[in-house]
Amino acid sequence: MTNRDLETLVDTSDEWITERTGIKERRIAAPNEAASDLACEASQKALSAAGLKPKHIDLIIAATVTGDMPFPSTACTLQALLGAKNAAAFDLNAACSGFLYGLSVAECFIKAGSKKRILVVGSEVLSKFVDWEDRGTCVLFGDGAGAAVVEATEGESGIISTEMHSDGTLGGLLCIPGGGSRIPPSKDSVRDGSHFIKMKGNETFKIAVRTLERLVVDTLKKNKIKPSELALLIPHQANLRIIQAAAERLRLPMEKVLVNIDRYGNTSAASVPIALDEAVRSGRVREGDYILLEAFGGGLTWAAVLLKW
Ligand code: UT7
Repeated sequence: MTNRDLETLVDTSDEWITERTGIKERRIAAPNEAASDLACEASQKALSAAGLKPKHIDLIIAATVTGDMPFPSTACTLQALLGAKNAAAFDLNAACSGFLYGLSVAECFIKAGSKKRILVVGSEVLSKFVDWEDRGTCVLFGDGAGAAVVEATEGESGIISTEMHSDGTLGGLLCIPGGGSRIPPSKDSVRDGSHFIKMKGNETFKIAVRTLERLVVDTLKKNKIKPSELALLIPHQANLRIIQAAAERLRLPMEKVLVNIDRYGNTSAASVPIALDEAVRSGRVREGDYILLEAFGGGLTWAAVLLKW
């Protein structure tokens, strides 16, 4: 769906969306597609890249806020779709930081020795939770999925460090208020549109910029890595201006920053793994490279993962 398509739905323009967000188009799932369907395709590609079969996976972590249904979990549905019969499976709700929270959790299981091969997937079908009459949000989001297999390795490559943070006092800035046990689904909740995504965009934007600038600097400092040693920054794709602010704070040239928001919009938990996949497949990541992944989103949550490829 392009910005021009959106011009026919709400009072907006390609110029406004491009200038304020960097988004030109976003992907929309088919009416019969749910989060587990997108997750399944991404997971199959990740398994094939890793040279593994579904039976080799012993844990599935599905990061999503747009799961197929309240329960069973999207991770369990994905397990069935994949035929990953040896896996335990659970969902993880950390909104846009979900994939990075998932990597952090996977790292802990592997370090503890209780799981060997973990499929971490971020999958979102946000288009089904967007109010297509609210120009403040409907232009921002898109659907997608990305996945990675995490396992123990010998040597220096892998996850160097992880950062996870949250501030629940600011949960109201970005949320879907209805459809849960607070405001159960009813004729009234549907009439009020409480099942749609609500965002105080400008406030969220300012906090995102401040928080991510601090997060990227602190993560590198903690690991005694200079910004110039970083091969690639892979940020959550919420707004090009937020991405540029983090890059500027590190004095990183934009060639060292993965940007694909123009094609996908904000895909929440799917955005970092989609960008990582593009970076790997296009040869932008080489062995020994330091890569910094970062994200910020509803909760509020924010997270970073420093990798050595
Ligand atoms: O992924 C999780 C985290 N998410 C984020 O970090 C996203 C954070 N927020 C943002 O990306 C930005 O705040 C937005 C892109 C949502 C909005 O940009 P902004 O520069 O913060 O604009 P604003 O909300 O201050 O609105 C400026 C004006 C308003 O008009 P008035 O009141 O100045 O007359 C809005 O009504 O732009 C208007 N506006 C629009 N105009 C055309 C809002 N949405 C649209 C639109 N098209 N789609």
